[in-house]
Amino acid sequence: MNESHLSVKNLSYTYPDGTRALKNVNMEIFKGEKVAIMGPNGAGKSTLFSHFNGLTEPTSGYLELDGKKMEYDKKTLLEIRQKVGIVFQDPNDQLFAPTVKEDVAFGPMNLGLDYEEVEKRVNEALELVGMKKFKDKTPHHLSGGQQKRVAIAGIIAMRPEIMILDEPTAGLDPQGVDQVLTILNNLNKDGMSIVISSHDIEMVNGFAEKIFVLYEGELLARGDKHEIFSNKELLKKAHLKAPITTEILYKLKEKGFDVDTTKINIDEVIDEIMKIKKS
Ligand SMILES: Nc1ncnc2c1ncn2[C@@H]1O[C@H](COP(=O)(O)OP(=O)(O)O)[C@@H](O)[C@H]1O
Ligand SMILES: [Mg+2]
Repeated sequence: MNESHLSVKNLSYTYPDGTRALKNVNMEIFKGEKVAIMGPNGAGKSTLFSHFNGLTEPTSGYLELDGKKMEYDKKTLLEIRQKVGIVFQDPNDQLFAPTVKEDVAFGPMNLGLDYEEVEKRVNEALELVGMKKFKDKTPHHLSGGQQKRVAIAGIIAMRPEIMILDEPTAGLDPQGVDQVLTILNNLNKDGMSIVISSHDIEMVNGFAEKIFVLYEGELLARGDKHEIFSNKELLKKAHLKAPITTEILYKLKEKGFDVDTTKINIDEVIDEIMKIKKS
């Protein structure tokens, strides 16, 4: 049986200026899942994420971590932040130390670990993200992709159970995107639950299985990626672009070919096209 890791119950959030950023959102993330929250700019993704580690308190509704209702006293917040690691969209919001290794050491040091343990975790985390040889460099002198990997290492070093990444591939070149996704897949294989936000369907297609669609603060849909990515009407409503594979199958269907428009992976789509040729 799947065990609930993080759940969101009737969550609404209104900013002090009156902006209703989240409207009665319900979601459940299970242990070991790879999840994507998808929605265009302004949908409420970052606002939702700031609830995941207790940084923001709901206006109404609540969250549960490991089946326990989130509270906002100091002690509980510390527990939450040990379990839930957040990687912000902009590495500049996260990286501040003079060297990469000091930056990665900051989190574990704050957990009160001794010097040797911190050193061990920093080395492990930098190794995992392929940034060990940059450990004495200044984070500001790194490329965007390298900075992103250092920011991820800083969170890995805290050994969270669930990792939340706000638009982790935004602004990266294709190799940078692949490197980040490889890191996330490796962490997930070791049992970590991973939640990302994005509006990039092609990237999410290659990563997550379970998708939540957020639009103007409301959860429009949830489902596996086949269901969501083949639902052109839903994607249009949420201002998202269907994957190119879905577009191809819909075009073929329009032309009268009998194809299954719920296929989204390239190999599956090629199979559909081969079937046409043969019949
Ligand atoms: N500090 C803030 N004060 C007021 N409104 C905000 C603030 N931050 C975000 N918003 C608004 O809340 C909504 C959701 O924003 P956000 O969570 O940043 O969306 P996303 O991350 O999906 O782009 C938007 O309408 C945005 O303008
Ligand atoms: Mg955002």
